[in-house]
Amino acid sequence: MENVERLVRSINSLMVLIAVLLIIVLGLGFWIYLGGKNTNTTPVVVDSATLLVTEAQNEIPALDKPEGMWVPPVEDVLNAQTNADLIKYGKELVANTSKYLGPKGSVAKISNGMNCQNCHLNAGTQPWGNNYAAVASTYPKYRGRSGKIEDIYKRVTDCFERSLNGKAPEKGSKEMEAIVAYIQFVGSNVEKGNKPKGTGIYDLEFLDRAANAEKGKKLYEAKCQSCHQADGNGVLAANGKSYTYPPLWGKNSYNHGAGLYRLSRFAGYIKANMPQGATYLKPQLTDEEAWDIAAYVNSRPRPAKDLSKDWPKMEEKIFDHPFGPFADKFSEEQHKFGPFKPIVSAQKNIAKK
Ligand code: HEC
Ligand code: HEC
Repeated sequence: MENVERLVRSINSLMVLIAVLLIIVLGLGFWIYLGGKNTNTTPVVVDSATLLVTEAQNEIPALDKPEGMWVPPVEDVLNAQTNADLIKYGKELVANTSKYLGPKGSVAKISNGMNCQNCHLNAGTQPWGNNYAAVASTYPKYRGRSGKIEDIYKRVTDCFERSLNGKAPEKGSKEMEAIVAYIQFVGSNVEKGNKPKGTGIYDLEFLDRAANAEKGKKLYEAKCQSCHQADGNGVLAANGKSYTYPPLWGKNSYNHGAGLYRLSRFAGYIKANMPQGATYLKPQLTDEEAWDIAAYVNSRPRPAKDLSKDWPKMEEKIFDHPFGPFADKFSEEQHKFGPFKPIVSAQKNIAKK
């Protein structure tokens, strides 16, 4: 009787052992099976459209990392300002300039129909979108273009007279004071003298060749024309007061004294921001494309401006200011389209002497 009991007990423990072993073996098998599957999670069948998009995005790397990017002060900070109403009016004027100051403006008819925001994206707060991050912190400052120390009023006036090809509201007017108050507010979280990451326009690397307007024309037709139109005139909004797609050349565009008329400013601006939807994190143009499109657009007709008083000191002329006389031996053509490397290194040599 005892023997039978012992036999049953040892059979029982044997069966437990087998069960445990089975669980281990099965578990291991399943784990390996899953592991094998995991290495295959990238779908085997990818339609060619998806593949093209992925490849195209991989080709053009981000311009910068988001870490440490300047961000504008938040709404609560704005509301806490003693001049909050003035600042808000300034923001409204930057975003919808034409409504108030354009050809059909409700306050004055003194500019070309563009909004400051067309070029200073998100009311001048977009990283690498020509923002106002460092205006309050760096002005007043000396600028070679005027040969004078400029304050923020002077710099805003410049964009009215050049980018908006018109006139600026008087200093002391509600509009001018509001715009300046807004720009000061936007940069109020930047220490004096500092230029935070993402300020203004991205400086693209120079090409080793001149930018090519013919190549740029083809690229413009493929990547820009759908919004900015074949004639470069853009598309007016239904109310006829401002642009849904702003002009890139023609009588309502910036004049040839404007910042965007400099090839490096145009190329850097579009590299990080155009076609619409592109950002510094997801640029859609290669450097070459950006330079070539800049060459094409800035070869089209646009309003002229008397620039005879600009750059009073010839040796201070910026490398891509395309109008002579120059302190160096390079032609107007090369100052306009490049190659810029030889010009910049010659300027460094002049500065050393
Ligand atoms: C057609 C495009 C365009 C429009 C429209 C425009 N700007 Fe500008 N603005 C520029 C460019 C380009 C610069 C120079 C950026 C640089 O040198 O890197 C600039 C520079 C400035 C600066 C100096 C920025 C700095 O960091 O030094 C201020 C301030 C400014 N603009 C204000 C305005 C205001 C206010 C308006 C509307 C009344 C306006 N701009 C409209 C293109 C434009
Ligand atoms: C899907 C429409 C769209 C496409 C495509 C597009 N843009 Fe724009 N572009 C805009 C809009 C909208 C603005 C004004 C942005 C704002 O006000 O916030 C603008 C503004 C601009 C500006 C500054 C304002 C001006 O008129 O001078 C430039 C320069 C510019 N685009 C160049 C280009 C170039 C070059 C391309 C092609 C590489 C391009 N854009 C493609 C919609 C577009």
